[in-house]
Amino acid sequence: MGKKFYVTTPIYYVNAEPHIGHAYTTIVCDFMKRFYRMCGYDAYFLTGTDEHGDKIVKAAEANGYTPQKYTDHISSKFRETWQRMGISNDDFIRTTDDRHKKTVQSVLQKVYDNGDIYFGSYGGHYCVGCERFLTEKEIIDGKCPEHNAEPQFIEEKNYFFKMKKYQSWLIDHIEQNPGFIRPERYKNEVLAILKNDELEDLCISRPKTRLEWGIELPFDSSYVTYVWFDALINYISAIGYPDDEKFKKYWPVANHLIAKDIVKPHGVFWPTMLKAAGIPLFDHLNVHGYWNMADAKMSKSLGNVVRPDDLMAKFGNDQIRYFLLREMTFGNDAKFAEDALINRINFDLGNDLGNLINRSFNMVEKYFEGRIPPMGKDEAEKSDLLNRLDSAYRTYFSDVEKCDFSHGLEALWEYVRHLNKYIDQYKPWALAKENSIDTLQSVLRNILESIHAVAVLISPVCFNSAPKITDALSAPVVVKDITSVLKLNSLKEGTQIKKLDILFPRLEKTEDESADTAEKNTKNSKTETSTEGLIDIKDFFKTELRVAEILEAENIEGSDKLLKLQLDTGLDRRQIVAGIAQHYKPEDMKGRKIIIVANLKPANIFNNRSEGMLLAAKKDKSSSPKVIFVDSSVETGSKLG
Ligand code: MSP
Repeated sequence: MGKKFYVTTPIYYVNAEPHIGHAYTTIVCDFMKRFYRMCGYDAYFLTGTDEHGDKIVKAAEANGYTPQKYTDHISSKFRETWQRMGISNDDFIRTTDDRHKKTVQSVLQKVYDNGDIYFGSYGGHYCVGCERFLTEKEIIDGKCPEHNAEPQFIEEKNYFFKMKKYQSWLIDHIEQNPGFIRPERYKNEVLAILKNDELEDLCISRPKTRLEWGIELPFDSSYVTYVWFDALINYISAIGYPDDEKFKKYWPVANHLIAKDIVKPHGVFWPTMLKAAGIPLFDHLNVHGYWNMADAKMSKSLGNVVRPDDLMAKFGNDQIRYFLLREMTFGNDAKFAEDALINRINFDLGNDLGNLINRSFNMVEKYFEGRIPPMGKDEAEKSDLLNRLDSAYRTYFSDVEKCDFSHGLEALWEYVRHLNKYIDQYKPWALAKENSIDTLQSVLRNILESIHAVAVLISPVCFNSAPKITDALSAPVVVKDITSVLKLNSLKEGTQIKKLDILFPRLEKTEDESADTAEKNTKNSKTETSTEGLIDIKDFFKTELRVAEILEAENIEGSDKLLKLQLDTGLDRRQIVAGIAQHYKPEDMKGRKIIIVANLKPANIFNNRSEGMLLAAKKDKSSSPKVIFVDSSVETGSKLG
């Protein structure tokens, strides 16, 4: 029986399209699956979408869809995005799948039959963003700090899960299994919740009179299941709890990955639910921090959401994966900034790794007509490399086990940087001049072997570039036993090395960097020309201009000037109000593409919310405005600038 590994992402709410935060957790899980596969494990990876509850119904309504249509639409956006990003999930679960509904109902029935569910009445402060009741302590200045919104007071008769009953058992479990919730700070956070206050029983139903969009309770058809009780069960419904082989095989090695926003449901609700249902607990809950923008939290209303597709198109998939894994210290928040991304691409990938390959291949070309030289007789040049590679691999492995991806990759890069030093130390060009052919062969062969080993080891991160490197050496990227590449003895003497295009082209400038340069130029030219009244390019880029498609257009009752437009901005669905009704009829607008300012603070115009403005041009004050329409071939969501 070989080793096994099971990794899951949260199932994402389908009230918004995927952004870089979702992509990060998904990339981490994808990396872990590929990593453990590389190490010979039988690894399984699950992701999916969370489709029930108040939040989804509200989002569907706001976008003019039925919940089913809306969830189908956004769920497929997630699935397609992951496909474009080469995410290797083995399954994609939707909470609207029949297989999931059946499992939720069977777990509920089991817990009910065990006497852990009762009917009662409760009043509390419900945050729709969190989809849960908040405790008094969690409400700051009358608001949920996570969503900056006032919770609603809800009082109704409902079913309750006896969560309180398991409080001291859960404290013991967490204390006896220190790696159950990690990193440490989140273990402490959960212990603080459990130790400081008495837990409340969990309200696990919603009356259908208030919410119909959910899974019916098996023991009372006038209620649906509370969304968290439903959603958490995805982790076992997808692998066929209770009888499927997959469940037996993978559940004991389950690793959940989440961000800090959903620690309480995963660290408190989920283990107590499992315990009550008589199901063994998952192995680890791994919690990471948030990706924030340089100057603010990433949010739809600020219009600063980073879309994975845009990043991939601009920087490349391997590059993004490397950056995200390397830049964030798992557990802490990290800042997303394009210049940091460019630095990682240029320095780590381009200079350290790309140049190493480039210069090594050139020397093999020059001194050995591009053929892999024989292994050296003298092992002196090799033993230090073997030790270093072995230790880099061990660190990499144990760091990934702890989810410390950044440090693990740093250990590999230390080896890569050492290889560059190794070349400088042995100076193959000098060896060639002195005619020390044995040493020259040995040094270059060691380097090529090392490049092969590094390519295999980074293949879970850079799955596009790694096979290109190994292919150029006519060696496999997938090896039976990963430790075989550590022996630096995998290549075949005399094999012709294939030409390799530049893997990580150097990136010159971000918008900000251009902005900096433009600013400097402006400053330098100050003495020659006056810049009064001009803005620098940085100011221009503060305005986010995007192409949006008009889905619906209508007049606003009581106003002859205003049109209300429903837009697809590529990021979201939103409404804007535009003062063009005297010049354009609704039917002139529907289906056309326009340019909008996407990061404008929302405003209330004539009692209608407006999230942005469209661009129109006017010759002078008295002339009529002309809306700037965009050719239909320009993709919705494209950014201008
Ligand atoms: N549907 C629930 C999860 C149910 S799991 C049984 C949910 N969905 S969500 O769409 O809001 O996704 C939250 C998760 O998305 C986070 O836990 C994290 O994995 C990811 N992220 C969303 N924004 C993020 C950042 N800004 N930074 C890092 N990760 C983020 O909660």
